[in-house]
Amino acid sequence: MSLPKRVVLVGPMGAGKSTIGRMLARELGYRFMDSDRIIEERCGADIPWIFDVEGEEGFRHRETAILSELSSQSQTVLATGGGAVMREENHPHLKRDALVVYLKTSVEQQVERTRKDRNRPLLQSDDPEAVLRRLFALRDPLYTRLADIVMFTDRKSPRLVVRQLVNRMDPKSPRQVRKVGKEGSKHA
Ligand code: S3P
Repeated sequence: MSLPKRVVLVGPMGAGKSTIGRMLARELGYRFMDSDRIIEERCGADIPWIFDVEGEEGFRHRETAILSELSSQSQTVLATGGGAVMREENHPHLKRDALVVYLKTSVEQQVERTRKDRNRPLLQSDDPEAVLRRLFALRDPLYTRLADIVMFTDRKSPRLVVRQLVNRMDPKSPRQVRKVGKEGSKHA
């Protein structure tokens, strides 16, 4: 596989999309973009405020507009919000010229990584684990369907995930340390 025009990271809250995306962009010499941060910059307010004032629907509307705009940006690594796959109309924006990577993460890891988070409105509930389980059941099939590569991130450092991804994209890379997954397989 030669280097893709752009890489799009999908997956649930707490999958490590931003951390891994930033490191992967540096590795590929691509620009890193985070759709949530761009939405916040454009709006001049953070995501909890947008959910409060405009509701989830208002946020989703902004998200679709940004994903459409960013779909034409080559040499980028884009970290998307966990719910970006929920609107069918976003799918062509996510797939356009992209290698789509699903950072697959267990609900236990998601709980662990989002435990102290106050910036994710959907998790400000009495039982965030139940929310994450419900979202996983709904969204995992969508992430899987959209993805060119499914990369498990549990018990892996961001550095290892990036190394494995680069290895999958360019098997001749001198940075490769070990072969990951079956040749041609979507899963690693
Ligand atoms: C959301 C995930 C968040 C953010 C918003 C909604 C979701 O992004 O877009 O709070 O629906 O799963 P992260 O996945 O980066 O946390």
